[in-house]
Amino acid sequence: MNVLGIETSCDDTSLALFSTRRGIISNLTANQLIHDEYGGVVPEIASRAHIRSVLPVYRALLAETGVDARDIDGIGVANGPGLIGSLLVGAAFAKALAYAVKRPLVGVHHIEAHILSNELEGEVLSTPAVVLVVSGGHTSLYHIPFAGRYELVGNTRDDAAGESFDKIAKLLGLGFPGGPVLEKAARDGDGEAVRFPRAMMKKGDLDFSFSGLKTAVRLYVEGLPRVNGKAVSDVAASAQRAIVDVLVEKTVRCAARYRVGHVYLAGGVAANALLRENLAGACAGRGIQYHAPLLQYCTDNGAMIACAASGPLARGRDDTMRLDVFARGPVSSWA
Ligand code: KG4
Ligand code: ZN
Repeated sequence: MNVLGIETSCDDTSLALFSTRRGIISNLTANQLIHDEYGGVVPEIASRAHIRSVLPVYRALLAETGVDARDIDGIGVANGPGLIGSLLVGAAFAKALAYAVKRPLVGVHHIEAHILSNELEGEVLSTPAVVLVVSGGHTSLYHIPFAGRYELVGNTRDDAAGESFDKIAKLLGLGFPGGPVLEKAARDGDGEAVRFPRAMMKKGDLDFSFSGLKTAVRLYVEGLPRVNGKAVSDVAASAQRAIVDVLVEKTVRCAARYRVGHVYLAGGVAANALLRENLAGACAGRGIQYHAPLLQYCTDNGAMIACAASGPLARGRDDTMRLDVFARGPVSSWA
């Protein structure tokens, strides 16, 4: 079965073709660099950019793979959570195509797709497991007792981890999106240079809070005589270290609490090298198996949507023209 995956929940227009036999055939993404000017994603601009990009990306995908529209057996589209205007563009495109080629269409939960990006290399999730979902809008720990069930056991009280990367990068004048640029700046810095706060570490719960860190960085930067060169790298490295320390500690704590042998990473921040390295190390030291998606499938992509849609499509689900989009909502699986 060939599945087309469509992802337009935020600022990337990403489409992919996934074969249930061969895996990912191709994944094409048009990034919206225009938001850099504003230091963050402007929803109205994002929706309009999706309208401009979605058809050219679709055509390029078919041209590159040599797949004809009639060879598509089913369509998956991210229908939430996300920016409502952006989601609407993907959903409208998916419906029009499903109608034209007379194929089934399923809506995919964006966070479940991030979790299932760990299956893109062919291996199904090993359960019971714990997954740390770290994206621009989410920082959550889920206990997965068996495939398809996601129990939210930890969540951020304020900023998401990705949002912290973005805000701190903006504060340091590094540009947008903040994660990759802050990680790059941190490479030349000393992660021990400034001891930024690690919130809620002593408490037994599994929740997160990152707004205090953002404030601490702002106050520190305001006290600097000059914000450039080594100072920027040191602040970037120290802030990154603080975020990663909290994420790693809470994730292994969660794995111990639920006595699971598998830990998964998911979401845009999962692309962060320090997080991958430190979480892998912490898991190895405790006899836990660590898993992370391939780097190119951490940030938003059509491949994870197609992969997540393939299960329900194979079981005959069709959300039809009644499919709706939603800005917020818990992960509720098809399984
Ligand atoms: O999952 P994603 O692509 O979109 C959402 O669903 O939000 O995640 C985007 C987030 C952004 O906040 C971005 O700064 C962060 O992921 N990110 C990173 C890295 N690459 C992307 N954060 C840290 N290190 C990275 N290498
Ligand atoms: Zn995402």
